[in-house]
Amino acid sequence: MKPAIDIRNLGKQYELNEAAPYVALRDILSQSVKKVFSPAEKKEKFWALRDIDLRIEPGERVGIIGRNGAGKSTLLKIISRITPPTTGEAFIRGRVGSLLEVGTGFHPELTGRENIYLNGSILGLKKAEITRQLDAIIDKFLDYARPDHAELKPVLLNDVIEACLYAVQDQGDMRINLDVSKGLYVLADEVELARVLSNLLENARRYGKTPETGIAMVDIVAKARGDWVLLKVRDHGRGVSPDMLPNLTKPFFRGDTARTAATGAGLGLAIVDKTVQRMGGIFALANTASGGLAAHIKLQRPHQH
Ligand SMILES: Nc1ncnc2c1ncn2[C@@H]1O[C@H](COP(=O)(O)OP(=O)(O)OP(=O)(O)O)[C@@H](O)[C@H]1O
Ligand SMILES: [Mg+2]
Repeated sequence: MKPAIDIRNLGKQYELNEAAPYVALRDILSQSVKKVFSPAEKKEKFWALRDIDLRIEPGERVGIIGRNGAGKSTLLKIISRITPPTTGEAFIRGRVGSLLEVGTGFHPELTGRENIYLNGSILGLKKAEITRQLDAIIDKFLDYARPDHAELKPVLLNDVIEACLYAVQDQGDMRINLDVSKGLYVLADEVELARVLSNLLENARRYGKTPETGIAMVDIVAKARGDWVLLKVRDHGRGVSPDMLPNLTKPFFRGDTARTAATGAGLGLAIVDKTVQRMGGIFALANTASGGLAAHIKLQRPHQH
C-alpha cells in the first residue's frame, strides 16, 4: 500500500523583517509606524524546515516532538496545504483535517446544527456526509426519546425476523443463520421489536465482522422457556473488552472502533435496552466463549399461544 503521507526533501524558508502589508493601530500607538513604512528593509532569510523526508503508512499514528521553533507547526501547515513548501514535495493520499489554531469547541453564536457542520468540515467531512450522519443521529435520537408506553400484542416472532432479514438480504458482507422454532409468539410491539433487531444487525455488520473473512456471521436463535421466549442475536467478531460491556447500553457511548470510524451516535443499544424493557422484557449483552458479542433478549410469551 502506498504511504498516506509521503514527504520528500521538504524545506520551508521564511523571510524575517517582512514589512506588514497594513498599518495596525497598535503600530501607531507604539510609534513604530516609521519602521513599518521604511522601504527596502533588509530581509533576513531562515529555514524553518530543511531536508525533511517522512513516510506515514495508512493506519499509522505519528507524533511530532520538538523544541519551540523546531518547525512542527510549519510541517503541519504544509501537510494541511495552508502554506506551500519552498523545496521538495508532500504527497497526501486521503483527507486532511486540521485543528491547527482552530478552536475545537462549540461556537456560542451558532446553532447546534451549524456547530455540527462547522466541526464536521474542520474534520474534513463533506457536507453531504455530515447531513447523512446528522439525519441518522436525529432518527436514532427520536427513537430513543419515544414515549414510554408500548402496546403489546402477540406477535409471531418469525414474521418480524423475516421482515428484518428482508431489509438486509442484499448485503454481501453479512450472513445470517436462523434457528427459530416455528410458531413462536412473543408479547411485543411489532414495529418496536423490528427496530430492536435492526439495530442489532446493524451493529453486527459494523463491529462484528469475522476478522479473517470481513463478513459478519450472525446467528439468530429463539426458543420457548416456560413463560418466556429467549432470543439470541450473536456475531463472530472481536466482541468487546469486558470492562466496556456495561457501558454499551448507555446513551451516546461508543467504543473505540466506532469513534475512529465516525459511524453511529452511540444510541442503538440504549434504544434496544429501553425498548425491550418497555415491552416487559429483559436485555443483556455478553461476550461469547468463541469470540463475538451476543445479545440476549427475554420476552414474555402470550398465554393463549
Ligand atoms: N456486535 C458488536 N461487536 C463489537 N462491539 C459492538 C457491537 N455492537 C456494539 N458494539 C460497541 O458498542 C458501542 C455502542 O453501540 P450502539 O449501537 O449503542 O452505538 P453505535 O452503533 O456506535 O451508534 P448507533 O447505533 O447510534 O448508530 C459501539 O460503538 C461499539 O463500540
Ligand atoms: Mg448501533
